[in-house]
Amino acid sequence: MFPSVFSGGIIRKALDKGLMEIAVHDLRDYTRDKHRQVDDRPYGGLEGMVLKPEPIFAAVEAVRRDTDARVCLLSPQGARFDSAMAEEMASHRQVVLICGRYEGVDERVIRHLADAEISIGDYVLSGGEPAAVVVVDAVSRFVGGVVGKEDSVRHDSFAEGILDFPHYTRPREFRGLKVPQVLFSGDHKKIERWRRKKALEKTLEKRPDLLRDKKLAPGDSGLLEEIQNERKEP
Ligand code: ADE
Repeated sequence: MFPSVFSGGIIRKALDKGLMEIAVHDLRDYTRDKHRQVDDRPYGGLEGMVLKPEPIFAAVEAVRRDTDARVCLLSPQGARFDSAMAEEMASHRQVVLICGRYEGVDERVIRHLADAEISIGDYVLSGGEPAAVVVVDAVSRFVGGVVGKEDSVRHDSFAEGILDFPHYTRPREFRGLKVPQVLFSGDHKKIERWRRKKALEKTLEKRPDLLRDKKLAPGDSGLLEEIQNERKEP
């Protein structure tokens, strides 16, 4: 599953430039029985299989390179992955992602091996692998030099806890739909104010939860007031 995803886009460029390394390890290589068994039936009954602790402990202990490594188990029971978590993970020299499978992972892995349990959303994937791809992509954007201009990470959605402002490119008019006039004004202060206002407006419309416990930047309350007033107008 992994080579195709990591052989394109910014991840490929980051790997080529030596800004980061990715290694994929098969848990079966860390088993000691002839069937290379990574899972077993759950104690106490119930259907399904559970990932055994020994191969996971052996694999993590073999690949972990220093004490700064952050070991994360991907599972739907984890804390919700977000931009702040991605940025924090990028500050570690090594991140070890354990992909859960089957009905679950032996609880001793969660309690005594992983530093964190992470979920990419409230749905159940058939394995942690697609979640690991999502985490690697989001984390790599915070690794210095990976995204061309540092600026574009700073302006990304969520970078400041709100959504991104709208973007436009040529043509100026498409099927009668015009690019907002302010973007041609050449007045950078005015454009910046417009972008901030639109970002707040979009956030208010689509993700009001993000604004609830957000410390607003100077000027934001004025812009939000303007937005509310415009909404009231018929
Ligand atoms: N494994 C299965 N479902 C998952 C999810 N939502 N997030 C992370 N890992 C998972």
